[in-house]
Amino acid sequence: MKLLVTGGAGFIGSNFIRHMLSAYPDYRIINLDKLTYAGNLENLQDIDKFPNYTFVKGDIGDSHIFDKMEIDAIVNFAAESHVDRSILDATPFLKTNVIGTYNLLETARQKACIFLHVSTDEVYGSIDRGFFNEDSRLLPNSPYAASKAASDMLVRSYVETHDVMAIITRCSNNYGPYQFPEKLFPLVILNALNRKPIPVYGDGMNVRDWIHVNDHCRALDAVLHKGRAGDVYNIGARCERTNIEAVRLLLKKTSEQLGIDEQELTGLITFVKDRPGHDKRYAIDPSMIEGNLKWLPEKDFDKGVSETVQWYLSNEKWWQRIVSGEYAEYYRTQYGESI
Ligand code: NAD
Ligand code: DAU
Repeated sequence: MKLLVTGGAGFIGSNFIRHMLSAYPDYRIINLDKLTYAGNLENLQDIDKFPNYTFVKGDIGDSHIFDKMEIDAIVNFAAESHVDRSILDATPFLKTNVIGTYNLLETARQKACIFLHVSTDEVYGSIDRGFFNEDSRLLPNSPYAASKAASDMLVRSYVETHDVMAIITRCSNNYGPYQFPEKLFPLVILNALNRKPIPVYGDGMNVRDWIHVNDHCRALDAVLHKGRAGDVYNIGARCERTNIEAVRLLLKKTSEQLGIDEQELTGLITFVKDRPGHDKRYAIDPSMIEGNLKWLPEKDFDKGVSETVQWYLSNEKWWQRIVSGEYAEYYRTQYGESI
């Protein structure tokens, strides 16, 4: 299979490429990524030289970039992904998440290839009790979520109008290696290591449903190979935690691995002003992918968090470069321009 992965230099995309190259050594993968602040080729250093892997620097919004590519399927991870940034300025979210997805849909239409659109549970909005299923209404509350919901609507319209073989997945919060340190899990670990305040928004009682990135990648693999065109699949591991519970677990694991008193780290927790429009609870029902595609998550949360803390402790070079801006310098020397 000739696979185009867009946004493959980011957190989930890079883990997905690694998974696919290991599971299907005969597949050819093109990774097209704009290398925004969140894209990092160091996420893929171990597979960079594989003969069946090619990196192309490009923007999914560029309508001619795919012209000469032979593609059987597109898996679209390319997006602006951080809610807080969308509150500051939604412009790049609309450009990439909406217009960029539209351009990919046109590409899938012209090439008559499969289009797997990696979306998010945030499109459903917040729910106090119960769970969202694939037929729930889309009620996004942040500009990020609204841009993803808009892209989901476009995908639906291309299935209905142009018979594009598109599938949408909506996954819950991911954690694991190579996550950019603006997101809650790596931010907590790195601030703990540097003994910096750990900001918890509001009262810390917002609930997120956590899944290890490898389980998400296995789910996407199942959807790509066994999913039905036009379908939507919720992906989640039934692992709800309040933010403060998740933060405390991360600090417990970090202190154990550093061999220090847990209180030295829990003392860093600082309750700060809430995120505007902060969704109270995300909760999806993943029964459809579990039943129809026989996918189940494998990673135990406690173990996954330990391993994730261990990964950040063992990969200081990776995050130091990001944090210190050295990666930006590395990028300039590689590509002769600034990020
Ligand atoms: P990320 O921010 O780590 O990575 C995004 C990648 O897209 C980066 O490599 C970036 O350079 C690239 N990119 C951005 N704009 C681009 C453009 N115009 N053209 C080409 N490449 C571009 O994001 P992530 O956390 O890996 O999320 C990947 C996808 O999964 C997103 O679509 C996101 O909405 C979705 N998702 C994320 C989560 C999560 O918990 N992180 C959960 C569910 C769904
Ligand atoms: O649910 C899936 C979504 O999960 C994805 O679509 C998004 O791309 C991804 O970024 C993530 O969104 P969240 O906003 O839930 O993730 P974030 O890591 O930013 O925050 C997780 C929770 O922690 C959220 O309730 C806000 C809170 N938080 C976050 C940060 C960065 C804090 O309390 N303090 C912080 O410093």
